[in-house]
Amino acid sequence: MKIEDLNAVYAIEIEAFKNSTWTMEAYTRELVMNKFAHYFVMELDGEIIGYTGIWLVVDQCQITTVAVAKKMRGKGYSHVLIQHIKDYVKPQADIVSLEVRVDNTPAMRLYERNGFKYGGVRKNYYGEGLDAHVMWVNLNE
Ligand SMILES: CC(C)(COP(=O)(O)OP(=O)(O)OC[C@H]1O[C@@H](n2cnc3c(N)ncnc32)[C@H](O)[C@@H]1OP(=O)(O)O)[C@@H](O)C(=O)NCCC(=O)NCCS
Repeated sequence: MKIEDLNAVYAIEIEAFKNSTWTMEAYTRELVMNKFAHYFVMELDGEIIGYTGIWLVVDQCQITTVAVAKKMRGKGYSHVLIQHIKDYVKPQADIVSLEVRVDNTPAMRLYERNGFKYGGVRKNYYGEGLDAHVMWVNLNE
């Protein structure tokens, strides 16, 4: 992901996360200043149709975001993003983890299909009454 991708990325962000707390400035900071952050866009015919981001610290990888443009959902594209992360971090990381809202069925299904297991619940992680599942996968298993 490059700075010039951010308009397209942010258009997807807004439709994907209704109450997103991520601003354009936050994305810019991630790209420019966070040495642990790695962000990727997925393009089809020159158009950005999805993106994902991770924080990679020593041998631990946390997925910070995954989104696919609404009009491109339900076609399996998100699996491409997750597989890319796994391939990218495998030389360095053993564990990939993330948080997902307990009512986000498509996302949980995506992660389950990619070998992620449930590791517990974080109460109120997304605000009052909005819990998250922690999910993780061991890339060496
Ligand atoms: C989650 C998201 C990235 C999935 O992207 P996608 O490209 O549409 O997903 P896919 O087509 O690859 O489908 C992923 C799995 O979810 C299932 N799925 C898709 N939509 C679904 C729905 N509405 N209900 C239940 N399952 C669904 C698919 O069948 C697939 O499982 P399968 O491989 O066993 O068939 C996309 O829905 C999105 O951007 N959501 C908004 C942002 C978000 O919630 N990100 C995750 C944050 S943790």
